[in-house]
Amino acid sequence: MSNHNSDTDPDFFRQISEFWSAQLNNEIFLRGHPDIERGSKEYFDIILSARRKYIYYLPRIIEYLEASPDNSLLEVGCGMGTDTLIFAEKGFQITGIDLAQGHLQLAERLFRLYNVSGEFIKGNAEILPFSDEHFGCVFSFGVLHHTPNTPKAIQEVFRVLKPRGRAVLMLYNRMSLNNLAHWITGKGFENARRENGARHDAPVTQRFTKSQVRRMCSMFRDCEIRVEYLYGAGWGKVYDLTPKLIYHILSRIIGWHLLVYLTK
Ligand SMILES: C[S@@+](CC[C@H](N)C(=O)[O-])C[C@H]1O[C@@H](n2cnc3c(N)ncnc32)[C@H](O)[C@@H]1O
Repeated sequence: MSNHNSDTDPDFFRQISEFWSAQLNNEIFLRGHPDIERGSKEYFDIILSARRKYIYYLPRIIEYLEASPDNSLLEVGCGMGTDTLIFAEKGFQITGIDLAQGHLQLAERLFRLYNVSGEFIKGNAEILPFSDEHFGCVFSFGVLHHTPNTPKAIQEVFRVLKPRGRAVLMLYNRMSLNNLAHWITGKGFENARRENGARHDAPVTQRFTKSQVRRMCSMFRDCEIRVEYLYGAGWGKVYDLTPKLIYHILSRIIGWHLLVYLTK
């Protein structure tokens, strides 16, 4: 787990926020579209359709969260709001929070373009600016492994949930093919570029085992962990050429995403 102590290193969050304002992870889906204007309708349409393709298990998450005590949904680390939009279109009442202003501006623009409502707030997953038992459900996708104190952030998810509230978290899986491939090649996880062209990586990218996740979530009444997503767009042609049956079988064994389904 991370060595950073976020309580004693507040500047570190500024670095995380600056990194993610410059690194728009979903732009990986625009590789074949060099001339698309950032924030245009076409930009979002391509990203949304790619997310529906690669994040094939989103319908299961929606179904799980629909059984929450009410439809108030907090997305922690909403990024540019693509999944948030899908939840809003399903009738959830949306609050999105993220550290990175660059991502939040795009989320607001996306919601205006699609004419749906939601509130977006700049804030930190480790100190959520909400009262106890405020939300019926919480969703957080690919975020809490990028913050230094993941157990603290999960404790915050628990705190802001109503009794019987439901949460779904996606955390990176240590025991995965993707983690092994990055370990062998030494490649960074987020494929980010510096202005001079040299690659660098997110300030924090933790990978967890299922038992670490169970320990961090032990305060919840129920915790089910499913393994998904062998690999995605980052693997280019390898993804396209993998027979889908094999992809789905291996995803359930050595996939990169730990989907944590929680009930308070
Ligand atoms: C890989 S992106 C995922 C964004 C979005 N969930 C998605 O799937 O497109 C990680 C996001 O986590 C946010 N983030 C990282 N640490 C955070 C923290 N402590 N509090 C709030 N947001 C954080 C980053 O700003 C970034 O938008």
